[in-house]
Amino acid sequence: MGHDLTTFFQPRSIAVVGASENPTKIGHASLKNILISDYHCTLYPVNPHEDEILGMRCYKSVLAIPGSLDLVIISVPAPIVPAVLKDCVKKKVAWVIIISSGFSEIGNHKEEEELKEIIAGSTTRILGPNTMGYKNASTGIDASFAFGMPRKGNLGLISQSGALGMGMIYLANNEYVGLSKIVGVGNKIDIDDDDLITYMANDPETAVIGLYIEGIRHGREFMRSIKACNKPVLVVKAGRGKAGARATASHTGSLAGSDEIYSAAITQSGGIRCRDLVELFDMARALAGQPPAQGNRIGIITNGGGLGILLTDACEANGLVVPPLSKVTFEKMQKILPSLIRPNNPVDLVADAGFYRYWSSSLALLQDPNIDGIIVASVHAGYARPREYTGAIQKMIAQQKLHHEYKKPILGCWVGGREFEDLVQDLKAVGVPIYPSSWRAARAMYAMVKEGERLKRTTKPRKKPR
Ligand code: COA
Repeated sequence: MGHDLTTFFQPRSIAVVGASENPTKIGHASLKNILISDYHCTLYPVNPHEDEILGMRCYKSVLAIPGSLDLVIISVPAPIVPAVLKDCVKKKVAWVIIISSGFSEIGNHKEEEELKEIIAGSTTRILGPNTMGYKNASTGIDASFAFGMPRKGNLGLISQSGALGMGMIYLANNEYVGLSKIVGVGNKIDIDDDDLITYMANDPETAVIGLYIEGIRHGREFMRSIKACNKPVLVVKAGRGKAGARATASHTGSLAGSDEIYSAAITQSGGIRCRDLVELFDMARALAGQPPAQGNRIGIITNGGGLGILLTDACEANGLVVPPLSKVTFEKMQKILPSLIRPNNPVDLVADAGFYRYWSSSLALLQDPNIDGIIVASVHAGYARPREYTGAIQKMIAQQKLHHEYKKPILGCWVGGREFEDLVQDLKAVGVPIYPSSWRAARAMYAMVKEGERLKRTTKPRKKPR
C-alpha cells in the first residue's frame, strides 16, 4: 500500500512475456499496443521459442535482457506465471502486470497466495492477476492487450473488470468524456484501489476519479485514500444483492459484503456512490468542467411545464431545493416572459421560447444570490427551433463561460429525437454537460452540490493575519 506509481505509469523499459507472432494471441496484442503507442520507451519481447517478434529481437527470459526493467507484462498461462514472476524478482523489476487469469476468480486461492509469497520482501509490485493492464491517455502509453485508446481528458478510471473497463472507454468516447488514464485492477493482490486513488489524487492530469468495484480487500485504506483525496471520487459498487454477490465471487474472486456498509463507507469518506456507469459519466462530465454548487438551491428553466415539474421532483428526491423566485428575480422575469405567464421556479418559458428568453432568464437566475446552480431544459415541442436552445446554452457555457463568472454550475437537459440529437452531440463535444432525462440531470446536479459540501468540509479556513 502507498506505492509511488510514477514509473509504473511512465516506464522507460518494458518487457512483454508471452509475446507472440500469432496475431490472435493476447501476448501479441500486448506487445503491439506498446509498439504503436505514441510513447518513447525500450521494448523487449520475451518468448523462449522465438528469435524475433514484430521485427524486434526476442529474449528467452527476462533474465536474458540487458539492463534494468521498469515494467514486465505477463501473458502466459497461469501455471507458468510463478516461474516468470520469480525471474522478475531476481531481476529487481519494479512493476509487473499479470494479465493471466486462472487464480482466485476460479477458486485457485493457493496459486494466488504463491504469487504473493514470491514478491514478499522484494521491491517488485504486481497489478492483477486477471487484469487488462492500463492505458495512459496523458502520456500515450497503452499497457493493455485491448484495442482502442480513450480521448485525452481529466477523468481517471479504476476498474475491477477489464472488459467493462474497455466498454467504459468506448462509452466515454461516445459521451465526449476524456480520460487521463484507465487501470484494470483485476484480483488486486498487491496494487489496490487505495494506491491508485492516492496516485490520481496527486496526478495533475486527473481532476475526477471514477471506480468500478466488486469488492474491497482493505476497507480502512480504501476509506482513508478517498478521505485524503482532494478531488471528487465517484464509485460504482456492483454486487448489491445475493445473486450479484455470487456473480462477483466468480468474476474477480471478490467478497461483495453488505451493500449498506459499502454505501456508508463510500459516503462517510466523502465519495459519491453512483447507481451505474452512465451515472458515473454523467456526474464526471459535470464535475470536470463546472464549478461546484455552493448550496443546494436550484433554479430550473424550461420551455415545457411538464419537464420543469419532472426536474423539480427529481431535484427534491435527491435532497435539492427548488425555491420560489426572489422579488428581484420575479420582476426581471416579468420583463422577459410574455405577459400571460406568471413567473415561478421552475421558470416556464413556454413552447415558443427562443434564444432571448433562454439567455436572459438564465442570466437572471445566475445573478440571484438565492440560487446555487441552474438546469436549463428544453423539450423538442415541435414549434420552437432546437437550435435557439442549444445556441443559448452553448453561448452561456462554451463561449461566455458564465458558470465561471457566476461560480455556479449550469447543466442542460433535453427531451427530443434525432433532429435534436446531432445538436446535443455538438454541445457535448465542446464540454457542455447535457442530459436526456430529468433524473440524470438532477443526479448530476446532486454531484455538484455534494462536491461543494466536500470542499467546504475539507478546505481549512485561512488564519487571520495578526
Ligand atoms: N516465457 C515466455 N513465453 C512463453 C513461456 C515462457 N516461460 N512459455 C510459453 N510462452 C509463450 C508461448 O509459447 C506462446 O507463444 P507462441 O504463440 O509463440 O507459441 C505465448 O507464450 C502464450 O502462451 P500460450 O500457451 O499460447 O497461451 P495463450 O496466449 O493461449 O494464453 C493467456 C495465455 C494469459 C492469454 C491465458 O492463459 C489467459 O489467462 N487468458 C485470459 C486473460 C484475461 O482475460 N485476463 C483478464 C483480462 S480483464
